[in-house]
Amino acid sequence: MQVATATAPTSSRPAPRASGFVCDCLEVTECALLETLSKAHVRTLRDVRRAIGAGDGCTACHDLLRRYLEAAR
Ligand code: FES
Repeated sequence: MQVATATAPTSSRPAPRASGFVCDCLEVTECALLETLSKAHVRTLRDVRRAIGAGDGCTACHDLLRRYLEAAR
C-alpha cells in the first residue's frame, strides 16, 4: 500500500533580522536568545531584557522578540 505524503507546512518559526542578529542594538544572536528562552524563568519581553539585554535599545526588535517568545511556549 502506498501512503501519500503531504508537503510539510512552512515553519512559523521566526528568523533573525537581515543583520543576523535578533537585536541589532545589543548584537544579540538567535542562538543566545534561544538559549535564554529555554530557561524556565524567561517568559516575557521584560525577562529577556533582564537576562541578555535584547530590546534595551531602539525597541525595533520587540515584535520579533515577542514572536520568539510565542514560539517558545
Ligand atoms: S534592535 Fe533591539 S533594541 Fe534596537
